[in-house]
Amino acid sequence: MTARANAAPAIDMRNVSKRFQTEAGPVDALRPTDLTIAPGEIVGLLGFSGAGKSTLLRLMNMLETPTTGVVQVAGADLTSLGEAPLRRQRRKIGMIFQLFNLLSHETALGNVAFALRVAGVGRRERRERAREALKVVGLEDKVDAYPAQLSGGQRQRVAIARALVNEPDVLLCDEATSALDPHTSLSILRFLKRLNAERGTTIVIVTHDIKVADYVCQRCAIMQDGAIREWIDMSDPRPASPLGQFFLETAKGWTDETVLPDGSA
Ligand SMILES: Nc1ncnc2c1ncn2[C@@H]1O[C@H](COP(=O)(O)OP(=O)(O)OP(=O)(O)O)[C@@H](O)[C@H]1O
Ligand SMILES: [Mg+2]
Repeated sequence: MTARANAAPAIDMRNVSKRFQTEAGPVDALRPTDLTIAPGEIVGLLGFSGAGKSTLLRLMNMLETPTTGVVQVAGADLTSLGEAPLRRQRRKIGMIFQLFNLLSHETALGNVAFALRVAGVGRRERRERAREALKVVGLEDKVDAYPAQLSGGQRQRVAIARALVNEPDVLLCDEATSALDPHTSLSILRFLKRLNAERGTTIVIVTHDIKVADYVCQRCAIMQDGAIREWIDMSDPRPASPLGQFFLETAKGWTDETVLPDGSA
């Protein structure tokens, strides 16, 4: 453990929940949850579709407003901040989605520089830093390409460069690599690990894929039905719940003997 272990948590959530009101009635996307992530940790959120992973992640930067509870990130209580301070605090939090929401009328460089424009950085410095960030993700030869001229993996790397150009303390990734081929996925995951090792960036990764969690994460929350069912230490994984065991089992690949968590075949 480093000295950072004593520092304030990178993310601290107390009694945080999210209930959506829908025509069919209320949906508890996240039940009251406590969660603490230390600076420099890489944490995974695993679970089946609809478990509440994206909701939990989006609550970490207030893309969703919690129904109850307090969300502290990088030393500030996001739930008590006004609009302008919240925007400033959010610059310390990068986010990468599965669907790379790039601006189609901007080049790769323009897309990355945009994140700095929002932060009030001058034009020249924006371009320099955006170029540098694109180099980090191996796209120095694509700075002038538009999203439509890039492959899926290249677009995702532009999105990553954009998330990183503000040098965030916390990086939130929602299925950041699940649409990509294994080669591109692995190179991006390696890059995230390096970022964590070199800059101490705290990383939270939502994934269905135990391989991703196994390779990158130090510990993982297993989520089901809007709640964290179990935490698994990835250096010594001993899941107690059938769901946790299922996830770990699938790391070895599927066979006809693989048992589904509900006991069905
Ligand atoms: N804006 C919304 N309005 C109503 N219900 C929502 C909304 N967003 C999410 N939900 C519901 O909350 C639950 C959790 O959704 P969430 O997107 O967090 O799941 P997830 O674990 O990320 O799933 P996936 O792996 O499919 O992305 C689901 O039942 C979903 O239908
Ligand atoms: Mg999701």
